[in-house]
Amino acid sequence: MSTVVLLAGSPSPQSKSSLLLKRASQVLSGFGIQTRHFQLCDFPPADLIEARWDSPAIKALIDALGASDGLILSTPVYKAAYSGALKTVLDLLPERALEHKAALALVTGGSPAHLLAVDYALQPVLSALKARHIVGGVYASERDFVTDEQGRATPGDAIVQRLDDAVGRLIAHLPNPGNVLLQAGQLEQRVSHALISV
Ligand SMILES: Cc1cc2nc3c(=O)[nH]c(=O)nc-3n(C[C@H](O)[C@H](O)[C@H](O)COP(=O)(O)O)c2cc1C
Repeated sequence: MSTVVLLAGSPSPQSKSSLLLKRASQVLSGFGIQTRHFQLCDFPPADLIEARWDSPAIKALIDALGASDGLILSTPVYKAAYSGALKTVLDLLPERALEHKAALALVTGGSPAHLLAVDYALQPVLSALKARHIVGGVYASERDFVTDEQGRATPGDAIVQRLDDAVGRLIAHLPNPGNVLLQAGQLEQRVSHALISV
């Protein structure tokens, strides 16, 4: 049985990037893949700001990653990169925290202009953590979400499709897919659609 760690990197309680992560979690569950969820508020701010390497909360994340096959992280674009709070968490991970694992980044930005943040900001940090496979990430801007009369945002159909495809690529790259059931040819198709593999 595969396990994937989900790390939500937005400080916002009404987070659009976390909505993408929630959808990814549903897709993984649909394939029988276990998930472990972490968000910024799981980590005491003092542990992050003072870079406490012995933080129990960080140790829980490290242990979960160690027992997992992959990581999906979500983050807003902040100042053309990812959230600084997420960086303080990632900085406390060991250098090889993602060794042998597949990784996927889900990013939301106010405009489509910072689409490339997925490649120039997220991909290097996932590489630095030695991820085996970094599958092509997903970037959604404001216009990819539908807002209802109460002001609640949900991902639109097009972004949901791109997200599902990306999670499929991640599943295809899990080192230990276990008893994940894929129809004939589906796995190969997903591998061939993977955009980045290191
Ligand atoms: C401090 C801050 C910096 C931001 N910088 C950018 C930016 O450089 N480019 C951009 O497209 N959007 C930027 N945004 C907009 C957010 O990326 C966007 O609203 C995103 O969907 C928020 O995701 P979240 O709801 O998961 O926090 C910024 C927002 C904040 C609060």
